[in-house]
Amino acid sequence: MGRLSSFFFFFFVFFINATCCRGKSHQQQLPKKHVPFFHLRFSDGRLLSDFIAKRAKLPLIPPFLQPGFRQCYHGVNFASSGAGALAETFQGFAIDLKTLLCNYCKVQSWFRYKLGNDEAKATISRAVYLFSIGSNDYMSPFLTNSPILNNYNDSTYVGMVIGNLSTVINEIYRRRGRKFTFINLPELGCLPGMRIIKSGNNGSFLEEARRLATLHNKALSKLLFELEKRLKGFKYSLFDFNSSLRQRMQHPFKYGTYNTNTCKPVVP
Ligand SMILES: *[C@@H]1O[C@H](CO)[C@@H](O)[C@H](O)[C@H]1NC(C)=O
Ligand SMILES: *[C@@H]1O[C@H](CO)[C@@H](O)[C@H](O)[C@H]1NC(C)=O
Ligand SMILES: *[C@@H]1O[C@H](CO)[C@@H](O)[C@H](O)[C@H]1NC(C)=O
Ligand SMILES: *[C@@H]1O[C@H](CO)[C@@H](O)[C@H](O)[C@H]1NC(C)=O
Repeated sequence: MGRLSSFFFFFFVFFINATCCRGKSHQQQLPKKHVPFFHLRFSDGRLLSDFIAKRAKLPLIPPFLQPGFRQCYHGVNFASSGAGALAETFQGFAIDLKTLLCNYCKVQSWFRYKLGNDEAKATISRAVYLFSIGSNDYMSPFLTNSPILNNYNDSTYVGMVIGNLSTVINEIYRRRGRKFTFINLPELGCLPGMRIIKSGNNGSFLEEARRLATLHNKALSKLLFELEKRLKGFKYSLFDFNSSLRQRMQHPFKYGTYNTNTCKPVVP
């Protein structure tokens, strides 16, 4: 991270957002000493991107959607609560990836205007593009009772999510973005909001969501591997959020004091 450019872009979507306000149970799971970092922001705590910016010694990255948004020399946070790779995801409540791309293009024009063509180009290819997207696409059909999964089998549905993501990556690459970073999905079937969906499931994990997340993670690794082979100068890193979160679920006391409410997703 030491040699990170002075510049950062984010397409950032925080996976908890979609369900965080549905009931008291989620609030009760917040660590006891929760102190808001931001005021008047949907997520009053820092997002992953905020921590990375701090480590990279950058100022906090301003949200694109913040009213009065102007300054973006160090990058932009396109996070929305929530967002989906598919237009159908939480339709009317979420921003889809194509719209996020439009927002990004607006920022790019702003750069050309402010910095001139050459400097804008250089800035854009130095930037790091962080993506966290997908969880809402796999949770929305269950949380909204949408029939979309009746129309597609698992692999076709995952293929659409990955296909839309791939389109956006390719477009950013075409516009000279080169450095990308991604986060894979955790065991979505284990999230409290998913475990209570099926009555009679007795709070056990939601198998359908677990299956989709697993397929998605495999497809994401494959996509990135292929893009790196195909696109000259394309660089990426993929953070294994699934394993990282799993560690925290299995050893909660090692990582903090909150109760992780054991979920055993993998049948040995
Ligand atoms: C899913 O559907 C597609 C297209 O309808 C089909 O080609 C594919 O074989 C199906 N996959 C599975 C695992 O059923
Ligand atoms: C993107 O998602 C839409 C559904 O929102 C789907 O119809 C389309 O085929 C997907 N595109 C790709 C390239 O997979
Ligand atoms: C849920 O719990 C009830 C009562 O303990 C039991 O009868 C039922 O079989 C359980 N259902 C599942 C899907 O495990
Ligand atoms: C998470 O990692 C475990 C262990 O490597 C694996 O069995 C599981 O399928 C992964 N889950 C997802 C959603 O990728």
